Amino acid sequence: MSKMLKTVKDFVHYAIQQFKQHHVYYGHGTTNAKDEAWWLVLGFLKLPLIEREEFSEKILNPTEQQALLLLIERRAKEKIPVAYLLQEAYLRGYKFYVNKDVLIPRSPIAELIEQRFAPWFPSNKIAHNILDLCTGSACLAILCAYYFKEAQVNASDISPAALRVAEKNIKQHQLEKKLTLIQSDLFVNIPKKRYDIIISNPPYVDAKDLKTMPEEYHHEPRLGLAAGEDGLAIVRRIINQAKEYLTNEGLLIVEVGNSQTALIKAYPQLPFIWLEFEYGGSGVFLLHQKDLKRG
Ligand SMILES: C[S@@+](CC[C@H](N)C(=O)[O-])C[C@H]1O[C@@H](n2cnc3c(N)ncnc32)[C@H](O)[C@@H]1O
Repeated sequence: MSKMLKTVKDFVHYAIQQFKQHHVYYGHGTTNAKDEAWWLVLGFLKLPLIEREEFSEKILNPTEQQALLLLIERRAKEKIPVAYLLQEAYLRGYKFYVNKDVLIPRSPIAELIEQRFAPWFPSNKIAHNILDLCTGSACLAILCAYYFKEAQVNASDISPAALRVAEKNIKQHQLEKKLTLIQSDLFVNIPKKRYDIIISNPPYVDAKDLKTMPEEYHHEPRLGLAAGEDGLAIVRRIINQAKEYLTNEGLLIVEVGNSQTALIKAYPQLPFIWLEFEYGGSGVFLLHQKDLKRG
């Protein structure tokens, strides 16, 4: 097989065919076989992903050919997401290092950060302190540091292994002065200060969804996904405690995905604002500090 495959284009076509034949699932950075194949091939060759057709005729040397064939096979047959095979992921155009200790960045909260949480966070207001709970790779915390230049950002996770990945990303983005990592079981080690904004993409997958998720998700850390029978084990704790860590005008923004229905049922008294997205995604709520007091 490898004798027939020489150029970037050959490998992209072969990858597409393999992905389709083995029914891979696209949920970790792309939505289709073609984009997934280009990402794997160009990412492996460390070539830029934009203007990808430019590299179509580039010829791979025999060592590259062998190594890439193996990656295509692992993606197609073992269902390992491309992000883990290449140890890289993109969120709204920003690149992050990832390994199997962190969830692959994909939260729609990124889009809200780009818009500085407008219109809920007034455009003329300064955010002094932002907290990202359950930070994983620190992708969302890093975006906060870029879009809220005036703010100090705290980012926390319970997993030391995830925090090592977060640290690497913070260094790569040269944000050490703006972003501090805290190892913490939710609020346990968080300093007793008042944040203007708390964001979180916590584990929120319920037991039923966990059982039926495509194989690709089972390569991600269970600690990043599983949240008890109804998916609310972590979110409940966030809702119950966040008010003590927010300013009077503070905002809590949390992704809960498919657990949205269970959450509305569990907290009928809370006026959740369910946010909308241009680039896809749902199940993200916003609550004002004053409304959390009703929880
Ligand atoms: C869904 S992942 C999200 C990671 C990252 N925020 C993102 O959007 O890619 C959830 C993260 O929560 C962390 N986590 C799980 N339980 C936790 C807890 N009790 N306290 C703090 N972090 C927790 C996991 O280690 C994982 O990194």
